[in-house]
Amino acid sequence: MSSFEKTYLQYQGIPLPRAIYSDDFKFVEEFKFRDDDVLAVTYPKSGTVWMQYILPLVLNDGDMRAVQTTTNWRRAPWLEVKRTAPIVDQLTPPRVLVTHFPYNLMPPSLHTSKTKVIYVMRDPKDVLVSSFYYHQMANFLEDPGTFDEFMKKFLEGRVQYGKWTNHVKGWRHTELGDRIMYITYEEMVQDLPASVRRISDFLCCNVSDDVIHNIAEQSSFMSMKSKDMSNVSHAPKEYLDSTKSTFLRKGIVGDWKNHFSSEQETHFTSVIDKELEEGGPTSMDGRP
Ligand code: A3P
Repeated sequence: MSSFEKTYLQYQGIPLPRAIYSDDFKFVEEFKFRDDDVLAVTYPKSGTVWMQYILPLVLNDGDMRAVQTTTNWRRAPWLEVKRTAPIVDQLTPPRVLVTHFPYNLMPPSLHTSKTKVIYVMRDPKDVLVSSFYYHQMANFLEDPGTFDEFMKKFLEGRVQYGKWTNHVKGWRHTELGDRIMYITYEEMVQDLPASVRRISDFLCCNVSDDVIHNIAEQSSFMSMKSKDMSNVSHAPKEYLDSTKSTFLRKGIVGDWKNHFSSEQETHFTSVIDKELEEGGPTSMDGRP
């Protein structure tokens, strides 16, 4: 068995870390979305934890209690992780869920319910860099090797959840109509209050400007990094070794410039662009 096979199981062609997933996906296939659920969708390292923090605040008019007392995964559990299924049932509505799954693996109830979906996209070059460091600290993932080696694996989809381009393309071309909103990590970094306002409007939450500003302040990188309930420091060391890297690492746009050579940038961009074109035009500005 190769190190890749030892680390990942395959579910519908998607590599998933064995340490987190069992072979049983019936619970997600049969998951019953409710009309008032909110689902945040991300390819890993695109802003999942950020949404796990912001969404409960927006939905609860800025009430800080949930983010102060519960960890990210208890507040907004992963749809596809069986271990968190009992937590989902205990959530007070409106429930917030997150997923890294591709669109084609969503359960039928997503289509029949009125659940709202927020897709967060990040520049794949920064996703790659963030993921490279994450692989160094995450003991349940394959060792990334050198940056060049990791780039190859990423482009081939030999990483958890498969190819970035497939994830983006699948979620860009949905039948969800106005039930899906697209936002980029870059947009959030550039103007967090405006991004929180967009999210609030999409979710039809009547949140005042003061509350929006407070949410943006509380969910800034430095604020989240300083809090135990949002900085992922509670994760067991056998899963995430924070002596190797930190989960809230830099929180910036363009860190790829510190890691890519110009050859790597040309190669990476041409592969990504070609694959995106194959699925029809996909703009990178966060809007469909
Ligand atoms: P970096 O490694 O580039 O710092 P995910 O939660 O999907 O795994 O994404 C993790 C990335 O989101 C990390 O990127 C992390 O620092 C960044 N992030 C999390 N919260 C953030 C915030 N409040 N502001 C900016 N970036 C944030």
